[in-house]
Amino acid sequence: MVLEAFGIQKAFAGDAILKEVSFGIAAGHSLAITGPSGSGKSTLLSMLGLLLQPTAGEIRFKGRNVSDLTDDARSRLRNQSYGFIFQNPQLIGSLSVLDNVLVPARLARRSGCEPEARRALESLGLGHRLKHLPHQLSIGQKRRVAIARALLLKPEVVFADEPTNDLDPELAARLGDYLLGLTKQGSTLVLVTHDAAFATRADRCFQVADGNLQEVMPTERTSIGC
Ligand SMILES: Nc1ncnc2c1ncn2[C@@H]1O[C@H](COP(=O)(O)OP(=O)(O)OP(=O)(O)O)[C@@H](O)[C@H]1O
Ligand SMILES: [Mg+2]
Repeated sequence: MVLEAFGIQKAFAGDAILKEVSFGIAAGHSLAITGPSGSGKSTLLSMLGLLLQPTAGEIRFKGRNVSDLTDDARSRLRNQSYGFIFQNPQLIGSLSVLDNVLVPARLARRSGCEPEARRALESLGLGHRLKHLPHQLSIGQKRRVAIARALLLKPEVVFADEPTNDLDPELAARLGDYLLGLTKQGSTLVLVTHDAAFATRADRCFQVADGNLQEVMPTERTSIGC
């Protein structure tokens, strides 16, 4: 398993959002998480991506417990192995589109990534916006910049929180193909989405309900919109 969760719990100010979440995902597989708004999907993804500490439980990456890493070790692991597409694009307002996409390369002290950043932005239909600042973009354009940024260093695990929000159906379908296609090159995809057509295409599908994660079997998927 590349990623495992054992008895993950999360409470905010005593309010239990996630009660007991356990699952594992093998390398090169895709896993979709669905569930009602406010059920804890983004909270769960943030914990799996080491952006938020669980109240209890353990997360393992390639068999190693990563729940109690120091902040430095956690950042290193995230920079080296994880790509995170946030629900809210979170671009750096003072940097151009191209420089935003290059942030992971700068953090990892990797040079020579600019051609790849340009290529990714062009393939996402943003070749004419490289020098623009985030406030000059539409929300769907910002989302695409955030996607190019998360994927720049070809991370082993891609965490994507509602990546197709704000995109027109054609672009959403293309992006779905692209993200699922990453698993064929060995990346693992953990996806949160309300987009039923997209979720159905993942290898496994889970639903968050009442603080727990339940697997939705392929035969049940359409009946619950997954
Ligand atoms: N930092 C926080 N402090 C307090 N409560 C929080 C915090 N972050 C999230 N919550 C609460 O946790 C619950 C789950 O939030 P989360 O963002 O994980 O939901 P979600 O399933 O991703 O919803 P959506 O589909 O609307 O994105 C919500 O009730 C939210 O108010
Ligand atoms: Mg969310």
